[in-house]
Amino acid sequence: MPVRGIEWGDFEGLYALRMKRYDQIAEDPDFGMFSLPKRPTPAEYAISFGELHRDLLEGRGVCSVAIEEGRLVGSCSVRRHGNYLETRHVGDLGVEVLPEFRDRGLGKALITHALAACQGRFEEVHLEVIPRNPRARHVYESLGFEVYGTAPRGFQRGGAYQDFILMRKRVPGAGEGA
Ligand SMILES: CC(C)(COP(=O)(O)OP(=O)(O)OC[C@H]1O[C@@H](n2cnc3c(N)ncnc32)[C@H](O)[C@@H]1OP(=O)(O)O)[C@@H](O)C(=O)NCCC(=O)NCCS
Repeated sequence: MPVRGIEWGDFEGLYALRMKRYDQIAEDPDFGMFSLPKRPTPAEYAISFGELHRDLLEGRGVCSVAIEEGRLVGSCSVRRHGNYLETRHVGDLGVEVLPEFRDRGLGKALITHALAACQGRFEEVHLEVIPRNPRARHVYESLGFEVYGTAPRGFQRGGAYQDFILMRKRVPGAGEGA
């Protein structure tokens, strides 16, 4: 599988992947990822990219990318929620694959790669998925994520609310300490 850790040179590819979200939201109000009030410019996104790399360098996150046909077509990141001592064992997972590359195993490969990189950094990985995203939920369940609750009305787009399904998975090989 063409999955590897992210590199500094992936800026343009990751920016293009993130921007594709806005097209998908325009086509599908149930698209399951978050967006900003307006599309970030490359300069604005460079700040997020720098913060991602700071998290990677300081052990607060991991990020895997999928490369197909010389192009970045998917990513999976796990990042610490804040920088608190009490929650440092938990990472939040996000994953996306370009529409034309879905259902080829890349989503599962990205998550598996990222989970392996979580060893020694996190004990638990948490995520949120909306009910109207059955493909994502299937992927998570098939990789051993389990539902631990719901966040009522956690997701809103265009005035339509959905509950979040909360899922968790223990990082393979994680010990008791962080
Ligand atoms: C979720 C996502 C990352 C999965 O990536 P992917 O590359 O398509 O995933 P894979 O190819 O590894 O696996 C897809 C699986 O979903 C299954 N699937 C496809 N459509 C489905 C549907 N409507 N309902 C249930 N399962 C479905 C496929 O059969 C396959 O399962 P299998 O391998 O057991 O047969 C991708 O669909 C995506 O980017 N979605 C938009 C962004 C998003 O929703 N991210 C998650 C937010 S919580």
